Amino acid sequence: MTAALCLVVSAQAVEAQEPGAPVVLAAATTGTPAERAQATLAQMTQDEKLTLLKGYFGTDFPPAKFEAPKEARNGSAGYVPGIPRLGIPPQWQADAGIGVATQGGAAEKRPRTALPSGLATAASWDPELAFAAGKMIGSEARADGFNVLLGGSVNLMREPRNGRNFEYTGEDPLLAGIMAGAQIAGVQSNQIISTVKHFAVNDQETDRNDGNAIVEEGALRMSDLLAFQIAIERGEPGSVMCAYNRVGGLHACEQPFLLNQVLRNEWRFPGYVMSDWGAAHSTAAAANAGLDQESGYGLQRADWFSADKLGKAVAAGEISQAQIDLMVTRILQSMYAHGLVDNPVSEGHPIDFAANRAVSQRGAEAGMVLLKNERDVLPLAATARRIAIIGGHADKGVLSGGGSSQVYPDGTNAVPGIKPTSWPGPVVFYPSSPLEELRKLLPGVQIDYAEGTADPAAAVRLAAQADVVLVFGTQWASESIDVPLSLAEGQDALIDAVAGANPNTVVVLQTGGPVLMPWVDKVPAIIEAWYPGRAGGAAIARILTGAANPSGHLPATFPRSLDQLPHPGDPRKGDIVYDEGAAVGYKWFDKHGHEPLFPFGHGLSYTTFEIDHLVVTPEGEGLVAMVEVTNTGKRAGAEVVQVYVSGMGWEAPRRLGGFERVELASGETRQLDIHVDPRVLATWFTGRPGWTHPAGAYTVSAGHSSRELDDSVTIELPPSFLPPEWRPAKS
Ligand code: BGC
Repeated sequence: MTAALCLVVSAQAVEAQEPGAPVVLAAATTGTPAERAQATLAQMTQDEKLTLLKGYFGTDFPPAKFEAPKEARNGSAGYVPGIPRLGIPPQWQADAGIGVATQGGAAEKRPRTALPSGLATAASWDPELAFAAGKMIGSEARADGFNVLLGGSVNLMREPRNGRNFEYTGEDPLLAGIMAGAQIAGVQSNQIISTVKHFAVNDQETDRNDGNAIVEEGALRMSDLLAFQIAIERGEPGSVMCAYNRVGGLHACEQPFLLNQVLRNEWRFPGYVMSDWGAAHSTAAAANAGLDQESGYGLQRADWFSADKLGKAVAAGEISQAQIDLMVTRILQSMYAHGLVDNPVSEGHPIDFAANRAVSQRGAEAGMVLLKNERDVLPLAATARRIAIIGGHADKGVLSGGGSSQVYPDGTNAVPGIKPTSWPGPVVFYPSSPLEELRKLLPGVQIDYAEGTADPAAAVRLAAQADVVLVFGTQWASESIDVPLSLAEGQDALIDAVAGANPNTVVVLQTGGPVLMPWVDKVPAIIEAWYPGRAGGAAIARILTGAANPSGHLPATFPRSLDQLPHPGDPRKGDIVYDEGAAVGYKWFDKHGHEPLFPFGHGLSYTTFEIDHLVVTPEGEGLVAMVEVTNTGKRAGAEVVQVYVSGMGWEAPRRLGGFERVELASGETRQLDIHVDPRVLATWFTGRPGWTHPAGAYTVSAGHSSRELDDSVTIELPPSFLPPEWRPAKS
């Protein structure tokens, strides 16, 4: 089918028409999404066009005396009316990347399945798992009648105290982009739109509406933007959400460099840009810079960009009619391309919570990182007859992160009433008790619980009587706040005291991101469980007992002290100059020779792996690293084989070039081909926009983490240059 389009006449429309009146057309049913969008646009009145450019908040918002349109889904993030006469459905929008969230507090809770945090999923280094996770939450979104999921969060971890790091995918642009892209593709396999966000450099919450991120352009291209670029190439999201903050002086939703130049002209993104909720600050400037749809109408701000102003701006000649048509076309095209028109959503479908919880549990187990395990304290020995569990409400449930991405569980909040109980709370513990789950897996073992910080002396007494102690440390993080890089409320002192009472003390952490560990040398074993999601208690119990073998690897560096960070002071306000440039995370640590607490890529197993026989050959503009990995231990397990590359004049000694997670039986060897994206070998010089590889020697290493590299080879490469538009062939 070419440009010849088939427009179907709606039966009801025809019945309703007077004889001789122009035929009212319903959906364009054939042609490419672009052709269908054009055909539909041609039928639209100006009011209908403007309708698509304005998104309402989906929930009543008493502070602004706002009542959500009655067609909005109760407790949802957003609603954009459709054009029924043209077969264009409304856009029903729900947050976010961890599952189907609910806005508006207790009255409107929508129980749904929470995945582990985005950072936990990233820690699996397993794109197939991220796809399955996205597919599951997308299916719940569809079952609830949502056709736009506001998930696919890929802001780079420049600031380990960012309260939203748990929603994101870590500090490395390749890993972050691949994992977020896979999840987006999984969501969209349900014939709904996924939204990559928050574009761009929305890397902290302090001063989140006005903070002005300043990064040198070449560095930006090789860091934050590369993460988005890869996520967009791989996930092909229908929509991009521009961020609250400013970038290079302008708010992200009116920054033409980001929207028109990079996203549209260079990356050829065919979908639409929606603003974050209340993130649009102008009318003509934003529209002309590339914003298509304003979101969050009804929230606190009075000066809406699109609400009633776009039409006037066209009349005043500040925005061309062609620009309005382009904005509408992008939205329609995305709706056609992602199935919103052909496979409409409806509410009220049943959800298989047991099956979905299993998906969440698989992700939690794959993402947990065994940071330390001296004397093989883990898995829990069969000889342990008495186990003490201390703190973290581990008798009741597991922690989740707060803010708009909060998913409410089936069942109730296991620990209600912890402050803040309203925005950015409530603090929600999912009813999946590590204590109960351990009791199920270890019948006959005496397992006692002490609350911990409420009565440290009692906890220490209990610890002294046990064969093994499991101390649970928690750090709650949330949208709209940044958090200290530590466990709150006396937990460090508690761990210290417990470790003093029992040498077999294992720390299980549930945190939004990295934390400092002043007690690190006093405990033999540490597990980072992140926010482990709806089945987190079961996943923790399986990892501790060895029913599941840990295989997660850190997607972010754990610093030893604050002064190792590029900006050790509190998160900044106003102009936030990221003068570390592209040297984010481990790159910064490597460049300055800082010894981290645990390096990027680190993660132990209950078995051991050897990586060798590395052979590197050029492949297209990039490289392929052929390498062998062997499970040299006694149990089956999974290793993440990581390839790092080093070149001349780079921002840091090495960059992650590629990776692959493999499951291996004891004694099994596997040969892997790990492909290195040429952009990771290149430098972006602003004087010559694009990806430049100078000729010379490049070192390629393979290993278990950024600091544990088993094998390396050096290869001479000729010079090459890839233009800004370059993208890899689809695999
Ligand atoms: C958040 C977005 C979210 C939106 C809608 C904003 O506060 O920054 O991530 O999608 O709200 O709830």
